[in-house]
Amino acid sequence: MSDYKKEIERRRTFAIISHPDAGKTTLTEKLLLYGGAIQQAGMVKGKRNMRHAVSDWMEIEKQRGISVTSSVMQFEYDNYCINILDTPGHQDFSEDTYRTLMAADSAVMVIDAGKGVERQTRKLFKVCTLRNIPIFTFINKMDRDARSPYDLMEQIEYELGIKTYAVNWPIGSGRDFKGVYDRASKKILTFTAEETANGAHQVAEAASDLSDPKLAELLGEDLLSTLRDDVDLLDGAGEEFSLEDVRQGKLSPVFFGSALTNFGVEPFLQEFLRMTTPPLPRKCSDGVVNPTDPDFSAFVFKIQANMNKAHRDRVAFMRICSGEFDRGMEVQHMQGERKMKLMQPQQIMAEQREVIDHAYAGDIIGVFDPGVFSIGDTLCSPAKKFTFGGIPTFAPEHFSRVSPVDTMKRKQFVKGMTQIAQEGAIQIFQELNGSMEEVIVGVVGVLQFEVLEYRLKNEYNVEIRMESLPHEYIRWIENEDLDPKTLDLTSDTRRIQDLKENHLLLFVSEWNITWATEHNKGLELSEFGGAKM
Ligand code: G4P
Repeated sequence: MSDYKKEIERRRTFAIISHPDAGKTTLTEKLLLYGGAIQQAGMVKGKRNMRHAVSDWMEIEKQRGISVTSSVMQFEYDNYCINILDTPGHQDFSEDTYRTLMAADSAVMVIDAGKGVERQTRKLFKVCTLRNIPIFTFINKMDRDARSPYDLMEQIEYELGIKTYAVNWPIGSGRDFKGVYDRASKKILTFTAEETANGAHQVAEAASDLSDPKLAELLGEDLLSTLRDDVDLLDGAGEEFSLEDVRQGKLSPVFFGSALTNFGVEPFLQEFLRMTTPPLPRKCSDGVVNPTDPDFSAFVFKIQANMNKAHRDRVAFMRICSGEFDRGMEVQHMQGERKMKLMQPQQIMAEQREVIDHAYAGDIIGVFDPGVFSIGDTLCSPAKKFTFGGIPTFAPEHFSRVSPVDTMKRKQFVKGMTQIAQEGAIQIFQELNGSMEEVIVGVVGVLQFEVLEYRLKNEYNVEIRMESLPHEYIRWIENEDLDPKTLDLTSDTRRIQDLKENHLLLFVSEWNITWATEHNKGLELSEFGGAKM
């Protein structure tokens, strides 16, 4: 195998998703710790800096560099080259998280053992299923009072609609969390944690099997007999393991542990790396692109503006889908219809950004964006001309009508709105036959409205008027030739269009959505715009 193919084969690119506070940041940190990328836990910033009141927006802006450093982290472990895609855990930035999932080959879903599946978990999970990527479950905080592992697995199956397979099984929980039983090797991993002050260092593990006479002493009779019963039950009545199903996103391997104390983190990492996939082929306008195709290709999934205020720069993050990237190489920007050199290619490791010379399919690079890229754009080697299916637009949940206070500022207003929308922080809609002077802005997190107001004022010198709308649900009309004016709708439902003139409907409640589909036979509505992947 040639060198670049070997490099691609050993890459594992995944995203960690969770409801805020389930432990995503802590788990990320611990994975980096095992990979030797950091020496002590507590170094990954991002999340903690994002915990601000809305009025602290200035501070958020200042911290943006940090939220970017946590957007992708690369490290080596056991000869794998691992790219963890992370985004700020703050729920107001969840649109970013959604898009990041488009760049991942698999996802790790962190669930709080005391709380089970939560609101944000459900939403993020739905996005993962759009692409059928493998989803691994890490049930965290087993060192605290936890719900029964059976209940937790059942809830995942029932609420998320995916089969589960316990790869390991917890022995006790809370103060009695002693370790995990690994079902494949039939070994018990007990953790010795004397020196791990909150898991700042790696934790030692001792393995023994179920027949070890010392076990009763180690675990106590009660835990041991519960464990024996559990193992019998799981082997007898649980799901069969199928790697094929895991890779198609139909079966989620479940792991139990505690990120804070490191218990179960390394066994999880090892099994996860074994089960998850190297970079996956991607659909494009020419069919399918294989990661090991020698020609470079990539797509932009995130744009971060103003990382350096003095320069008003933008960085476009792209996921390499095939081939190898060399600094200075010429690529075709398909949407811009021109050849270009990617400027200042950077890779980001924990806290540092460094300029890179090479990167491979599976990797994420950030490049200087002179204002030409949009989310979803394709770059490929000039010999090839294809585009990747666009990144879907996720349904915003908050809407406002926005216009410039001073109508003379129309030009700056349109420019600012368009650029901020290109970055994907907001979505812009218009009334049917409306103009760009008064638009409807949709956002996933309500904080984005403040951001919009601030940025228009500071970067484009435009004051805006904002009137919030009572609508909370947006749906794209999938029927191509349907004239929205002919639809029979409740009076508070609005007919609007996006900048590509796709038709949409804005609803005040779910009840109105049902009303619309019941009164308009054949009407097809979708929650994701342009979700053709
Ligand atoms: P997030 O990124 O998913 O939002 O969660 P994060 O890792 O920040 O964890 C949220 C809180 O839960 C943190 O406590 C963290 O220390 C704690 N935590 C994470 N994993 C575990 C675990 O396995 N066991 C226990 N007991 N706690 C865990 P915090 O008090 O909010 O923050 P901090 O003050 O400790 O930094």
